[in-house]
Amino acid sequence: MILEALQHFLTPAAKEIKALGFVRESIAIEARYKRCRTAWKGHLDKCQQHILAAVSDLKEQATIMIIGSGALHDAPVDELLLPGHRIILVDIVHLAKIRRKYAQNDRVIFLEQDVTGLIKPLFDWQEGARSPMATEVRNKLAKTDLVISLNILSQLPINLIKYAARRHIPLPNDFENILLGNHLDLLRGLAPKQLIISDLERQYWEDGDAAQREPALPKDICQRLQNPCDTWDWHIAPKGELDKDISLLHKVACWPYAG
Ligand SMILES: C[S@@+](CC[C@H](N)C(=O)[O-])C[C@H]1O[C@@H](n2cnc3c(N)ncnc32)[C@H](O)[C@@H]1O
Repeated sequence: MILEALQHFLTPAAKEIKALGFVRESIAIEARYKRCRTAWKGHLDKCQQHILAAVSDLKEQATIMIIGSGALHDAPVDELLLPGHRIILVDIVHLAKIRRKYAQNDRVIFLEQDVTGLIKPLFDWQEGARSPMATEVRNKLAKTDLVISLNILSQLPINLIKYAARRHIPLPNDFENILLGNHLDLLRGLAPKQLIISDLERQYWEDGDAAQREPALPKDICQRLQNPCDTWDWHIAPKGELDKDISLLHKVACWPYAG
């Protein structure tokens, strides 16, 4: 805990990114990965397999963008580099350890970018003002041959909604739909080929039963994505991680998305 707090303090990031909890979360994910890597293995392997399948028909030296690259546990960067591809890693936080790993490789580009365009407007919101408007993101990201939205779609609204609630910032009723719909539009504008991996449902298991289930994506977004090409389980928090009796499982899905 003390080490995590120190790492938070030492990680350089704009104040709004720290205020909305993104740095704390990246450090926490890394710590959880270390504790749960065996339970996560099946999920991480699936993500890597789908990414490798998606790049298999790209021409050599293509450009691939991974949005939500984070700590890269689910991204097979070394394999993607073999055919000479260029990789743009987009996340709001790239921890120093990840940057160091590819610092000498000029075909790996790190881009720290809020893909919702809403973090700064929310942070800067003033009492009495209307709902904050997202800033334009599309023109900050280059066109690529393949764009991958990697375990980020369902995560996009979470910190924004929590922060808005804490500061009583008004958000539209269909905020989640708008935000996630904008993300799908962004992907479509970035590359002719897209791959989306996201959790679909969260399940809380107790005594061999899924005691509670929550959708991870709004219905309209699921309809827009249509049927996934594959689904699997991510044992994200085995018993003892969040609670001594309850484990958390994510149902994850993959879509080769084209519009
Ligand atoms: C569940 S993690 C994805 C897992 C990641 N690929 C890994 O292996 O660590 C979700 C990622 O989305 C990023 N993220 C969340 N909101 C974002 C935003 N508005 N813009 C850019 N990245 C964001 C987080 O920083 C985090 O790294």
